[in-house]
Amino acid sequence: MTETFAERLHQTRLGLGRRIVDHIRNTTSDLADSAMRNTVSVYTDPARHAAERQKLFRETPVVACLSSDIREPGQFRTFDETGAPIVVVRGRDGEVRAFLNVCLHRGARLVRETQGKANLFTCWFHGWSYANDGRMAAAPEAERFTDARGASALGASKHLIAVPAAERYGLVFVQATPGSTMDIDAHLGAFGPQLELLELDKAERVKDGVLKVASNWKYALDTYGEGYHFAALHKQTLAPYFRNDITVYDGFGPHHRVLFVGRELEAWLDKAEEDWGVDDALGGIHYIFPNTILFAGAVSPGKRYYTLFRHFPGETPGETTTYKTIYAPGGVKTAEHRKEVEDAWDATAHVVATEDYVVSAEGYRNLIAMPAGSTVIYGRQEISLQNVHRTLAAAIGMPLPDIAANPPPLKEAAE
Ligand code: FES
Ligand SMILES: [Fe+2]
Repeated sequence: MTETFAERLHQTRLGLGRRIVDHIRNTTSDLADSAMRNTVSVYTDPARHAAERQKLFRETPVVACLSSDIREPGQFRTFDETGAPIVVVRGRDGEVRAFLNVCLHRGARLVRETQGKANLFTCWFHGWSYANDGRMAAAPEAERFTDARGASALGASKHLIAVPAAERYGLVFVQATPGSTMDIDAHLGAFGPQLELLELDKAERVKDGVLKVASNWKYALDTYGEGYHFAALHKQTLAPYFRNDITVYDGFGPHHRVLFVGRELEAWLDKAEEDWGVDDALGGIHYIFPNTILFAGAVSPGKRYYTLFRHFPGETPGETTTYKTIYAPGGVKTAEHRKEVEDAWDATAHVVATEDYVVSAEGYRNLIAMPAGSTVIYGRQEISLQNVHRTLAAAIGMPLPDIAANPPPLKEAAE
């Protein structure tokens, strides 16, 4: 008999719950094989930064929004975060498409609202219009766009320039290079069925905003990947509710899932599995390569929202913009529920802005000041950081130097 979705969901959660209980009981954690040194220049080198911006943000599928953000035919959102001006729109046939947000008359920005619903996009410069499947609908005085023989010269101007787009598991992916090919199923691989379990297509957007930090985008991203820092950095905010010593890590190709262990789960040790309430209890992050964190949970215990953090590099290695959106899984139920989710956005933003991103900005300034050849080190519990940095570096064709073979210049203190 084939397993139903509900059974698969429950069994996955139960399996994770058992691993958590084992770790609590044995004071263990999922760990990498060894600690790993990384060269500081990975965060600061302008040449690496340029390669990342091109390879990871223009030539890799990137999450533009959730399917539910453009649920209705004609609903659109602009997507400028990679640097290329793009509009993502659901057509009358239900398909999600993406186009360069460029009018083909003389290049004006076609869609100037950041979101909305339209059957026709009309350029504000001279009034050319396009259907939401990209085909030109009308051009004023079109009969004057002719060649010397009087034939129409519009040709290539009759269809917006398409950019690869695909919708999977409630996520909308865009690869910000026209004419490139995108294989989203190959990209997601075994992570797809895990994302499916989140039922993102039922989630409803409640609040969004932008967090900026004067740091490298990977330094910002790193702060989402490990719970090791909860006890020190988040002493007041997260440490009262979450253990910092247990990581539950699963890698799926370049993507991963990390669960953070709420202290209330310690009570599971004295309970039968059926009484764990495992379906409402698990929180953590899904990392969608290269830049997206989907956080399931809240900075307070017992609540479960979806917060999407999409990190984008700026012009220089020291600028990052994080687009942060909170969703109500299963939709908003009541006005109070909406308020609660809005408050959760504020609470997470407060922790990120006053703690994680302060560390990120100060740390980035420090990395710049360190002598050439300096390194940082990721512990065995910072397993996700190890994988992220190895994978990102390999993907841009600039693999990390083998630090083990090139010991750092500073001698370790004698034990
Ligand atoms: S540039 Fe759009 S109509 Fe002229
Ligand atoms: Fe943090």
